[in-house]
Amino acid sequence: MKAERDSITIIRRGEAVEIDRFAPTETLLDYLRLRERSIGTKEGCAEGDCGACTVAIGRPDGEGGVAYRPVNACIHLLGMADGAEVVTVEDLARGGTLHPVQRAFVDHHASQCGFCTPGFVMALFALHHRPDPGPIDRNDVNDAIAGNLCRCTGYKPIVAAALDACAEPQPDGFGESATTLTGIGEGQPVFVGNERSFFAAPAAIDELAALCMLHPGATIVAGATDVGLWITKQMRPIEQVIHVGRVRGLADVEDRSDSIEIGAAATYQDAWGALSAIDPDFAEVLRRLGSPQVRAVGTVGGNIANGSPIGDMPPLLIALGSGITLRRGAETRTMPLEDFYIDYGRQDRLPGEFLVSVRVPKPAGTAAFRAYKISKRFDQDISAVLAAIAIDLEGRRIASARIAFGGMAGIPKRARRVESALAGILLDDSSRSSAALDLLGDDFSPLSDHRASAGYRLRVARGLLMKALTEIAGTPSAHTRVVGLREVADVAGA
Ligand SMILES: Cc1cc2nc3c(=O)[nH]c(=O)nc-3n(C[C@H](O)[C@H](O)[C@H](O)COP(=O)(O)OP(=O)(O)OC[C@H]3O[C@@H](n4cnc5c(N)ncnc54)[C@H](O)[C@@H]3O)c2cc1C
Ligand code: FES
Ligand code: FES
Repeated sequence: MKAERDSITIIRRGEAVEIDRFAPTETLLDYLRLRERSIGTKEGCAEGDCGACTVAIGRPDGEGGVAYRPVNACIHLLGMADGAEVVTVEDLARGGTLHPVQRAFVDHHASQCGFCTPGFVMALFALHHRPDPGPIDRNDVNDAIAGNLCRCTGYKPIVAAALDACAEPQPDGFGESATTLTGIGEGQPVFVGNERSFFAAPAAIDELAALCMLHPGATIVAGATDVGLWITKQMRPIEQVIHVGRVRGLADVEDRSDSIEIGAAATYQDAWGALSAIDPDFAEVLRRLGSPQVRAVGTVGGNIANGSPIGDMPPLLIALGSGITLRRGAETRTMPLEDFYIDYGRQDRLPGEFLVSVRVPKPAGTAAFRAYKISKRFDQDISAVLAAIAIDLEGRRIASARIAFGGMAGIPKRARRVESALAGILLDDSSRSSAALDLLGDDFSPLSDHRASAGYRLRVARGLLMKALTEIAGTPSAHTRVVGLREVADVAGA
């Protein structure tokens, strides 16, 4: 083990800045605005929703360059930025010349009050530096700014500016500091603070295991897109933070022939390619999960460990039959993901135990998969109901079904009675499938809350199952969808 560091280092404007004193919960935004006085980065919602605080985080891309990701500085812990280049809106103009994105904002009148503008510009700076500089269109721009809100300009000039500046990115002088970034704290654990109050970032999994055993009450943090809100909105007193983002190998995504193994620190962005390839519906749910800022740092592991009944990943992963690996000290154990969820707010995780990875089986050739997210807003909204359906087919007969829902119970949960009733019936047997779907009311007693009433949830869940069966039976998806159309022949004769 390399010597522990009692400070973190970030790169600001080409210079390494060492920070040795900070509270474990200090956010990057507070550091920038209150300590550095870089007040160009704004605070709007302080919960990751408006994008006004967007900055770019640069890390080596493994090919000699720098990969920039947009993050919401309001819920990004300062310690998590260790080893990264932090780019804010103040840094973009060079030698009196505006950055191409800024220039385009001026040319297209894409700013009025200007409060949202730094966030938009930084989200588009990340688009400007996308890893694949191929052509982009309006939809790509809309996705890139899905996490940024503007109350007064209107999006038309913003999108026009984005297309102007990002369609064919010009060199802007950024991304050339890879050599400066490489090796900052590589392989060195960080521990800033004291035994009572600290920010720790272990570098190896054994160090993480030891630290979790020593401090079982510490808060484990991956991307902080959930934990950040405990700090900024719920004002929870968090004194001990163990960040898993720098543990070597824990962010790996292994794409095997029959399954995908996703390390607990892998972000949605890291796992995007492998998970999207499972099924177009998986890709569509991912696209609508949070925003680029949330997906840049938020992890699949955090979504699982958080145990929310409305997390988007668990129903999809459960329907596919995924299993998780947990570790406590030197002991590891595995379990089906569905068994991890005991009751609302209760997971099968012991003190000092942490999530290592999730293994996602790839559907067999005879399987059909569907997933649908129902939320009030299309982009960046939490699900009211999420349905994931995996059906094994023997010709046009349903051999078996795994159906999981979010938003229908206190935990992500399978529809076991419906699954049993569907087994063996023909896709074309509408009376038997309708009777099977009637059993949803036996499987679930959903709650009413501000997202949806219990009655709505039950009706929409039934409708989604019907839609899945109809699509799998071969009805063109244009009849059952407004977005994410797909014409996949799941069964012969469809
Ligand atoms: C603006 C916004 C939009 C969002 N939209 C969506 C959405 O559309 N769909 C959705 O499902 N979620 C959404 N979320 C919630 C959040 O982004 C996800 O739940 C995300 O996956 C959490 O991952 P994280 O890495 O940020 O977790 P963190 O916040 O770091 O941690 C979450 C929980 O997991 C625990 N944890 C993390 N890693 C481990 C580990 N290795 N072992 C044990 N415990 C661990 C933490 O202690 C904490 O309890 C949104 C959040 C924001 C701020
Ligand atoms: S201030 Fe709104 S996303 Fe950070
Ligand atoms: S320019 Fe005023 S909020 Fe966007």
